[in-house]
Amino acid sequence: MADARVTEQAVLGALGSVRDPESGKDLVTLGLVRDLAITGGQVSLTLAFAGQTPQAKVAMHSGASRALRELPGVTRVDVKMGGGPAPAQAHGHAPAAAAPAPRENLIPDVRHTLAVSSGKGGVGKSTVAVNLAVALKQAGAQVGIIDADVYGPDVPMMLGSRGQPGMFDNKIIPVEAHGLRMMSIGLLVKPDEPITWRGPMIHSFIQQMLRDVAWGALDYLVFDMPPGTGDAQISLSQVIPLGGVVMVTTPQDVALLDVRKALGMFQRLHVPILGIVENMSTFVCPHCAKPTPIFGDAGGRRLAGEFGVPLLAQLPLDPETRAAGDEGTPITVRRPRSPQAAAFLDLARVVMSRLDEVGTAALPTIS
Ligand SMILES: Nc1ncnc2c1ncn2[C@@H]1O[C@H](COP(=O)(O)OP(=O)(O)O)[C@@H](O)[C@H]1O
Ligand SMILES: [Mg+2]
Repeated sequence: MADARVTEQAVLGALGSVRDPESGKDLVTLGLVRDLAITGGQVSLTLAFAGQTPQAKVAMHSGASRALRELPGVTRVDVKMGGGPAPAQAHGHAPAAAAPAPRENLIPDVRHTLAVSSGKGGVGKSTVAVNLAVALKQAGAQVGIIDADVYGPDVPMMLGSRGQPGMFDNKIIPVEAHGLRMMSIGLLVKPDEPITWRGPMIHSFIQQMLRDVAWGALDYLVFDMPPGTGDAQISLSQVIPLGGVVMVTTPQDVALLDVRKALGMFQRLHVPILGIVENMSTFVCPHCAKPTPIFGDAGGRRLAGEFGVPLLAQLPLDPETRAAGDEGTPITVRRPRSPQAAAFLDLARVVMSRLDEVGTAALPTIS
């Protein structure tokens, strides 16, 4: 049929309906469309991206493919991604927008990074990391979480995520869970695949999580760390300028050497210590709601005083918090108005202001 003939005008019309989520301008106006070829029902073209974020590239590429496939008469669509000369320059915009990100900054679109760490395992790092991430999101931020615990990657389970990360344009697309962007080593290796993690492998895993994942623009990127003072902590602090670390401990662990060792290590690595979270502080009776400090209640405060850092939160030992984690719906999502969730929201607020505080303090002063 004659009206099913695919014209350049129709193709450009379709591409003109696809917008850059960041600038709000369409692909044609931005001058991104190159090498357009129409052969019968086959349409191929290159999107000449330059300074756009990976997330925006992905959105525009899939938007363009979809819009073209919907055109009458189109049988095949091939949208390539190209670097090409910067379209921003071609259209007389500020050339800075097209400048490639400096090699060293692996995550230029991430405003704050923070690690959740501890002296040892089982103290609630992952529980804190996941609920803190959700609480930051609930406070209105765009949040990503990296499960860097190569020995026990629990974050996918705690976020109820069985999805697989996608690949696009040689970038890994993080999994979405409860509004967070998430990546975990647990998503990349099979659960029963035995891996002996050596230092260099951990280092390259962390690099890969930053360099090869399309995080897009984030306000906060939270790292759930393996326990202790091992390679992951050292690698992370070398790969990026880490915004700060939240140290999780339980009241009975406070006295242990592990926590002090871990705190001392971050100090030596010049990673700002945002403060201490005392987890499983008190047991709140599910029947009468009476809090009981099973392990005593002064530990976290004492430790914080000793290291001159704030006690960020005292989180109750709560059966529902554990169950929520096991079921993949964090307590902050499952019961957002509960006192337990409120404790995480308070923690999120303190962490946000601490990050701003230490970020400012870390700036060189001009004398
Ligand atoms: N405040 C809490 N109340 C009850 N259970 C908790 C709490 N924090 C953590 N847990 C549970 O304790 C176990 C260990 O916590 P997890 O976050 O996996 O620790 P880590 O990451 O330090 O190994 C998990 O079963 C978790 O659900
Ligand atoms: Mg864990």
